[in-house]
Amino acid sequence: MIEMNGICKTYGSRDTKTSVLKDFNIRIADGEFVILFGRSGCGKTTLLNIIGLLDQADSGDYYLDGQSVVDMTEKERANTRNATLGYIFQGFYLLPDLTVAENISLPLKYAGLSKKKRDEKALLLLDEIGLLRKRDLKPVELSGGEKQRVAIARALSNQPKYILADEPTGSLDIANRDQIMRVLMKMHKEKGCSIIMVTHDRELLPYADTIVKMQ
Ligand SMILES: Nc1ncnc2c1ncn2[C@@H]1O[C@H](COP(=O)(O)OP(=O)(O)OP(=O)(O)O)[C@@H](O)[C@H]1O
Ligand SMILES: [Mg+2]
Repeated sequence: MIEMNGICKTYGSRDTKTSVLKDFNIRIADGEFVILFGRSGCGKTTLLNIIGLLDQADSGDYYLDGQSVVDMTEKERANTRNATLGYIFQGFYLLPDLTVAENISLPLKYAGLSKKKRDEKALLLLDEIGLLRKRDLKPVELSGGEKQRVAIARALSNQPKYILADEPTGSLDIANRDQIMRVLMKMHKEKGCSIIMVTHDRELLPYADTIVKMQ
């Protein structure tokens, strides 16, 4: 469960101050699918970064599974990131020197799985996203939609409890978009993971249990 109360976030110094989140509250139950919706610049990525322990709020309370994030040490935060959070970033951030399969199994390496186990899992995920044949290629040899699918497989590889997805279907055609939503919904339904997804695509709103309109 995610609980945030009175979250504030401001960027910049005194002259160029931008207040992005003002007294923001949210509660996300285990297994809930939440869509964050709102105009460009309203703070969706900022919020995802705070939820995902990649950034910290200036003030407010944040409890992740009952634990106060503000009180965690940097090491506890890093462990939580690896163990329970999966990220699909607005860019893809695939590592250019690793193959598709290696990119996907990277979180499993951090989690301490053996090479054999990592390879097995990566192959299963590659099959699911329809890219088994491309497992030994580098990201530069993939199309935009293929890269996005690899980024999603990587986020799902260690079966995180929370999946944070920043426009995972942005700039994709309808076939790719539907394939990505199928993979995400499968994780959501079969493994019961929570999904917190940013999108501008109104057609995706019906997938969500809850739509949070950000101002
Ligand atoms: N590192 C930063 N330093 C200064 N300002 C920032 C920083 N990151 C974001 N901002 C500002 O905070 C505001 C919110 O940015 P954010 O990226 O959260 O928006 P967004 O809702 O994700 O927008 P988009 O839909 O375009 O991705 C913007 O005005 C942006 O300029
Ligand atoms: Mg954004």
